[in-house]
Amino acid sequence: MGSYTKRVLVTGASSGLGKAMAERLVAQGHSVVGTGRRVDDGAVANGVTLVRMDITDEASVRHGVQEALTRLGGIDVLVNNAGLGIQGPAQDIEPEMALRLLDTNVLGAHRLCRAVLPTMRAQKSGLVINISSLAANFGLPYRAFYSASKAALERYGEALAIEEERFGITVVNVQPGEFRTPIAEGRLRPERISPEHEPGYARAMELLGGSMHYSRDPDELARVVARIIASPKPKASYLVAQGVQRISVLAKKLLPGRMFQRMVGKHYQ
Ligand SMILES: NC(=O)c1ccc[n+]([C@@H]2O[C@H](COP(=O)([O-])OP(=O)(O)OC[C@H]3O[C@@H](n4cnc5c(N)ncnc54)[C@H](OP(=O)(O)O)[C@@H]3O)[C@@H](O)[C@H]2O)c1
Repeated sequence: MGSYTKRVLVTGASSGLGKAMAERLVAQGHSVVGTGRRVDDGAVANGVTLVRMDITDEASVRHGVQEALTRLGGIDVLVNNAGLGIQGPAQDIEPEMALRLLDTNVLGAHRLCRAVLPTMRAQKSGLVINISSLAANFGLPYRAFYSASKAALERYGEALAIEEERFGITVVNVQPGEFRTPIAEGRLRPERISPEHEPGYARAMELLGGSMHYSRDPDELARVVARIIASPKPKASYLVAQGVQRISVLAKKLLPGRMFQRMVGKHYQ
């Protein structure tokens, strides 16, 4: 990790934040392999070498990491970015759907860590960046399992940071607020919404759709991640949000729990 130019593996680089991060890192001179489920091994897009990988499939992860190691000659930085959204009243989410979400957002990152950390330990250095979410800080209505998955990813990252520090490996959580990506299109959603939840859910999704539309350019997050990679001593966690999103994290810390929940509820009415 001594040199400025790093060998970076970014999961979920076929779209949105992952694509923006991979492209910015290439533009800064880093060697980058990006992954996705629908890319061809070895294809190059805007300087990013793509490798096919489904992070819910152990064999696919092993193959993808091996492919990345062959192409990069090592991995200095792993960015666990690939992830899914989910929407729907909590009571309408079948456990199987929740498991699919957790399998991607939590165990996907775990599979990558298990595959990459031995190389980092052998190198006696490495950086793992987990792309969590602002939503890790509190339960968001109609996105219960998204909040739960990101909170789980953060606690996982914190534990890993302590375990791996002695091997020269740093683990960082990054919490993006809303950024303009196609994540809403791929959100898991139940087939049936309970009639009693329909009006509240519809209103919340309408508001969410509007705010995503006006949200920030993914390259702004990519710049922060590039700075983390360049930093000799990254912080344990970074919140990349502005305005009311940033203030909400402070409000969660300061306000009585019930008052904060009512405030969030009002926001989505
Ligand atoms: N956009 C936001 O406002 C926002 C805010 C906070 C956090 N985040 C987080 O940022 C990350 C990226 O989200 P995004 O907004 O950029 O969404 P996106 O545009 O939908 O990108 C998601 C990426 O994850 C990949 N992916 C999904 N499931 C996968 C699987 N099973 N195996 C391998 N790759 C998989 C997708 O690639 P393929 O479909 O090609 O496999 C795609 O490249 C996610 O973890 C998300 O939770 C986003």
